[in-house]
Amino acid sequence: MYDKLWLRYEGGYIETIEKIVRRVVLSCRQRSDVLNTAVTELETVFPAEVIIGENAGEEHAPTGEGFSIRNRNGVFTISSQTGGGVLYGVFAFLRLLHIGKINEGFVGLDDSPKISRRMLNHWDNLDGSIERGYAGGSLWKWDRLPKVDRRYIDYARLAASVGINGTVLNNVNADAAFLSHTYLEKTAILADMFRAYNIQVFLSANFAAPVNSGGLPTADPLHNAVRAWWRDKAAEIYALIPDFGGFLVKADSEGQPGPYLYGRTHVDGANMLADFLAPYGGIVIWRAFVYGHGESDRAKKAYADFKPLDGQFRDNAAVQVKNGPIDFQPREPVHPLFGAMEKTGLFLELQITQEYLGQGKHIVFLGPMWKEILNFGIRDPHGEMQASQLSDPVGKVLEEKKLAGIAGVSNTGDNDDWCGSLFHSANLFSFGRLSWDWTLSCTDIAREWAVLTWGRDLSVVDAVVNILTHSWDACVDYMTPLGLHHIMRYENHDGPDPGCEQGERADWKPPYYHCADAKGLGFDRTRKGSNAVDQYARSLADLFDNIETCPEKYLLWFHHVPWDHVLGSRRTLKDELTFRYHRGVESAKQLRTWWKQVEGRVPHDSYQSVLNKLDVQVAEAHEWEAVCVAYFMNFTK
Ligand code: GCU
Repeated sequence: MYDKLWLRYEGGYIETIEKIVRRVVLSCRQRSDVLNTAVTELETVFPAEVIIGENAGEEHAPTGEGFSIRNRNGVFTISSQTGGGVLYGVFAFLRLLHIGKINEGFVGLDDSPKISRRMLNHWDNLDGSIERGYAGGSLWKWDRLPKVDRRYIDYARLAASVGINGTVLNNVNADAAFLSHTYLEKTAILADMFRAYNIQVFLSANFAAPVNSGGLPTADPLHNAVRAWWRDKAAEIYALIPDFGGFLVKADSEGQPGPYLYGRTHVDGANMLADFLAPYGGIVIWRAFVYGHGESDRAKKAYADFKPLDGQFRDNAAVQVKNGPIDFQPREPVHPLFGAMEKTGLFLELQITQEYLGQGKHIVFLGPMWKEILNFGIRDPHGEMQASQLSDPVGKVLEEKKLAGIAGVSNTGDNDDWCGSLFHSANLFSFGRLSWDWTLSCTDIAREWAVLTWGRDLSVVDAVVNILTHSWDACVDYMTPLGLHHIMRYENHDGPDPGCEQGERADWKPPYYHCADAKGLGFDRTRKGSNAVDQYARSLADLFDNIETCPEKYLLWFHHVPWDHVLGSRRTLKDELTFRYHRGVESAKQLRTWWKQVEGRVPHDSYQSVLNKLDVQVAEAHEWEAVCVAYFMNFTK
């Protein structure tokens, strides 16, 4: 019943809707496969009438992926100059009808995406497994292709319905075999299906593919044979997939090959690929997830490597930066590169799959975390502004770039429920909605998802919204309060292990990050410490540098704080830490209490499976509190 997730369009509303809508007209400049998809989508609920032509329907139809919806006495016209725009208009129309936002009094609306590239990144492997996937195996059944799976279309519908227009099919730790002709042919079949949903297909490219798959002795980007190999590869790909999006590349990171191996730079690597994709309109998305032994502070590495390269990348090359400087922690301050790459295309990489936030087990709605990043005032145009006047949030920086996007590391898998549980699909939904319009309110998004998924029973909707909107705060409290980070178990990044000494590298071990000692707790990134603060605009750097003005949510990220330091609550660090861990557990219990209120109002199986998750979440929150408080308090003796 719930396998369609938020696209159930539950029957109960149809009667009310029929009172509001007499006729639906789709208006577009020309017929296309995407427009046909829009018609089909609409026909799941209404018969559609399609008008095509220069001045069809609305005279000033929005350009690009924008659309308008107009209501004249129950005749609804959805128009755009492109099929993609009409498709997004249809999904918006159906969504708004089902959540009750379109009623008899509705006049119209105009909408268009604020950020042009909205992508899912699948960390899916050739063997069907998914790196950091918690919802079963890969959706892509490579060994069965060209035979197609019904779920490919369901996937495209779900993605398009929230505005996703690009998908990277394979893991950034990329197998070079994905670039072999056999796999490109399979990829082309998926690309053909997704095209009709306005979704462009991309691949993660292994930088050493000329060696691993092409048999060359080197993958040096300045070597002629290597360049010829990539040029031919681009031609081969575009012959099969004329609208192929381009490559995502993880280079010189965690054992992945890259230009450094050959004494070249990120620019050499990215620009070579960009040049061969440019004639076809393709782009390169080059990840900035790098870290190294040399840096005293891993958080500084990406900025140190990439900032000097600003201005050297091609127009069709963008740098993809994770939301924070470390690695998808429950809470991180924003990555300083968002304020630093003035002349370079940028993608924000978010992780929908909850690698560090309880994985498939905990219900944690990530919308508020992503909003905190998108709203983060990163750019300080005058250098002299007061902290309170910080302007230009990350969302705006992306909006203004010629080449920009938001990428979400997907939490989808081949489980029936798609994302590991129904509640986990709220994160997929909200990723799409925020990548379309980063100014949307998370509570509104949570409400939309709640109604579309669970129906219109207000008491259920309220409970679901409460759970969603409070879950991230709870998780931060019971895992990593006050700016703590990376204190998870080594093996799988799940569960607390603040004392862990496993791992070859210092910067994989929790004590490297929390720096607990007899004096205090936290990583000193101030000007007296690693000076990571100076990677931010001046006013922001000053704010973080001062223990009195540093926001408490980032306190232990930027400061080594004495145990007896008094915080805003008038409690000492020692007491505040204990207080927050405990508050996290209590909040987790509160999530469960809210859910218990819906018993009997949702199907029993669904009720029980969510309750089971929340039981696990509460138990694990207790474990986090017990382990971390005992461990840290040992230092305060
Ligand atoms: C994290 C994650 C890895 C992943 C890496 C990346 O470190 O644990 O599995 O490969 O990020 O983003 O490249």
